[in-house]
Amino acid sequence: MTPRSAPSAVICGVGSYLPDKVLTNADLERIVDTTDEWIVSHTGIRERRIAADDQATSDLALPAGQRALQDAGIGPEDLNLVIVTTVTPDHFFPATACIVQDKIGARNAGAFDLVSGCTGFVYGLSVASQFIENGQMDYALVISAEKLSCIADWTDRSTCVLFGDGAGAAVVGAGEPDLGILAFVLESYGEHGDLLRIPAGGSRMRINEEILARHDDCLRMEGPELFKLAVRGVPEVSEKVIAKAGLTNSDIDWVVMHQANIRIIEAAAKRMDIPEERLVVNVDKYGNTSAASMAIALDEVYRQGKLRRGDNVLLVGFGAGFTLGGAVVRWAK
Ligand code: UT7
Repeated sequence: MTPRSAPSAVICGVGSYLPDKVLTNADLERIVDTTDEWIVSHTGIRERRIAADDQATSDLALPAGQRALQDAGIGPEDLNLVIVTTVTPDHFFPATACIVQDKIGARNAGAFDLVSGCTGFVYGLSVASQFIENGQMDYALVISAEKLSCIADWTDRSTCVLFGDGAGAAVVGAGEPDLGILAFVLESYGEHGDLLRIPAGGSRMRINEEILARHDDCLRMEGPELFKLAVRGVPEVSEKVIAKAGLTNSDIDWVVMHQANIRIIEAAAKRMDIPEERLVVNVDKYGNTSAASMAIALDEVYRQGKLRRGDNVLLVGFGAGFTLGGAVVRWAK
């Protein structure tokens, strides 16, 4: 695919929201048999945020979306679409996106949820960009939000120390040619679906007392297998999307990778020959927030004043599915 000319879909506003409660590694030492030393050396995580009991995923998504609207300088009634990407919806249905659409006041928007695990933000942006580029819509709001604390197994030290709650959002609208979302690549390897999932609670396995006793209503993950898939897959998908955008690795100014583990971020970047100073990292503060992680990291690096108009940003994620996805965005703000 050659890079597109007009009209292009650009990110015209970003925002994020993290709940106030901080759960440190020291706090976790009191919950499961773990140590700060193990968590930091194996993951780079020092603390994570945990939503309040009465905060559902839509309550995290809402302020993130409002901040993105404010940053874009548009009102909720300007939106034509709200997409929420999440693996922790408020309910099976209605869609969390519909709840957010109502609360945010997007009276002129359609809404749906999108499930692609930690790759959700890239999938969401790519879907939203279609409606903008074909001229059917003016603005779409993509919110990636997770309350992973409610699906974590707090008796399983191999997973519960990894995850956190939060939300990030982007407004996608029409912009100048050669800016915005230049290219994306979406991939799925469903044969690896069992590596990261919640076994019960869907139509495959109903929840009963036996399931609850086994904690099969909680997240299960084969970490080391996913680690290998990610370290191999991230450079591959990155190479494809960078080439699709008509660029080379040296043209990439910022890499916003899914924040699962500092060792994955550094190993994948090394394979891509991308220097450390171009990596956006916040896994130490928030842990793995699944779909929300890239959206939060993008908002942070933007609000730190580091992103300049014209900078090439590589968003690259991996997660449950197993999904992989990359997008090259030329910053338009
Ligand atoms: O977000 C989407 C997808 N998710 C990922 O991509 C996650 C990818 N995987 C990872 O990040 C890493 O595999 C983990 C952080 C999950 C695990 O790190 P690891 O270096 O692969 O450790 P391991 O699972 O091989 O475990 C090593 C040892 C084991 O002990 P033995 O069997 O060697 O005696 C574990 O029981 O560490 C033990 N261990 C712990 N020890 C203290 C596992 N979790 C903990 C813990 N505290 N929290």
